[in-house]
Amino acid sequence: MIVAIDGPAGSGKSAVGRRVAEALGLPFVDSGLLYRAVGARALEAGIDLDDADALTGLAGAIRVEVEGGTVRVDGRDYTARIYRPELSEAASRVARIPGVRRAVVDQLRAMGGGNVVMAGRDIGTVVFPDADHKFYLTASVEERARRRAAQLAARGERPDAGALEVEIEERDRRDSRRAAAPMRAAEDAVVLNTDGLDLEAVVGQVLQRVGTEGARRDRIESRDEPALSEVPPEARRAPGPDPGPRIELYGLMRFLVRLLARVYLAGGLLHVSGLERVPRSGPLVVCANHASTVDPPLVPAFLPRSDSWSMAKAELLVRPGFGAWVLRHYHAFPVVRHTPDRRALRRAAEILRAGGVLVLYPEGTRVRAGGLREAEPGAGFIARTTGAPVLPVALVGTRECFPGGSLLPRRVRVEIRYGPPLRIRERRPDGRRVENQEAADAIMLAIAEQLPPGARGVYADLGSLRERLSGVWEPALGPAAAATGDGG
Ligand code: C5P
Repeated sequence: MIVAIDGPAGSGKSAVGRRVAEALGLPFVDSGLLYRAVGARALEAGIDLDDADALTGLAGAIRVEVEGGTVRVDGRDYTARIYRPELSEAASRVARIPGVRRAVVDQLRAMGGGNVVMAGRDIGTVVFPDADHKFYLTASVEERARRRAAQLAARGERPDAGALEVEIEERDRRDSRRAAAPMRAAEDAVVLNTDGLDLEAVVGQVLQRVGTEGARRDRIESRDEPALSEVPPEARRAPGPDPGPRIELYGLMRFLVRLLARVYLAGGLLHVSGLERVPRSGPLVVCANHASTVDPPLVPAFLPRSDSWSMAKAELLVRPGFGAWVLRHYHAFPVVRHTPDRRALRRAAEILRAGGVLVLYPEGTRVRAGGLREAEPGAGFIARTTGAPVLPVALVGTRECFPGGSLLPRRVRVEIRYGPPLRIRERRPDGRRVENQEAADAIMLAIAEQLPPGARGVYADLGSLRERLSGVWEPALGPAAAATGDGG
């Protein structure tokens, strides 16, 4: 199994990678060390850091060994200096040169023999584009400078935090703008914003994903309620060879629901529109109206995100049995309805912090008759406090398709309409605090705007709602910006 962990300087990728490798029983490779080694040797030999030929030659011959905490370059101990800021700078300069990159990438590919956790800038995009799991860690510059300072202080140095911040920004700029293998998240990487998270929490989230998506799926799922921030004990003692082909249960179940819906509603009865509006990575709160039992299976099934979790009423999950088993495997987690259920809210925040998708129904219950009913404040609270973009989803015709009390669904037109993502503000432009209820109403307004007039219920008067809620929300950034999770 290959796990790629990329990210900018100080995002924690090496510390996280090392711990993840330990838990999975795989070797760990910090690819930055090779560029640092080339930079160090070039400085010693007096090679100009723009001399592509000389540096390419150097990179082709360099030998880096890591044993315990000791780093050796061409047989000599470099442990004390390899992480110094001047070598960070030199590494980033030599890393721009295509010949150096080719030589280093060749070495990296030869390491680990198909089983490795590797940290860097281009592991998921260039070194191992077919890696089994890809992560991209981000954090604000301030936070990353703080971490680097702590790291250097632990080695007995006295770094200047301000200077580190400048150095990191400069390196980010160079690493992300260079022509050869610029630093970026792979399209299929899970982006984790690690601001405010400690090492343990990030390691837990990475292992959780590796477990959820990978071969350890079954063992992890036998746990009662896997929380995102916990390290699954199963993952800790789950070393092993490449798992080979595998089926991801949640993906399979979602596929089956889609298949069932398409077959049952064949002949043009099922419509999905606005798919291009769905951010493909990064935190997202998906809010839909709820009128039928088919909504909770349908919404995640058609959402192009496998990193989604749905809030489900606790009653369904407390009694062990086949129903609860299915729901848990369908990524449902319990919420005690009509209460500020702290545990569920914490779980929701964790999912979003990890860059995942939270699916919920702001009305708080299935509305059996009539149009939309007033939202509960919970969805507003989550969207307001996490700042995650909200995707409004209008479900049309699901009640007619499967009305309460009926045994079989009916063949009627069903539509899933995705509206433009929005973001709830903490404060209105005039400084007034946004209330949770207002935030929830703004989300419902966005859903109502996608619904036919007859289905809008208490949110029918769009004009006066827009006026009352002006300044409560703003359009969310596009998918690409949302994907980085830190606005840049
Ligand atoms: O990760 P670390 O900060 O040790 O990396 C030092 C430099 O090496 C980075 O700033 C970057 O320019 C370069 N590097 C790279 N590709 C990698 C790893 C590191 O270009 N995979």
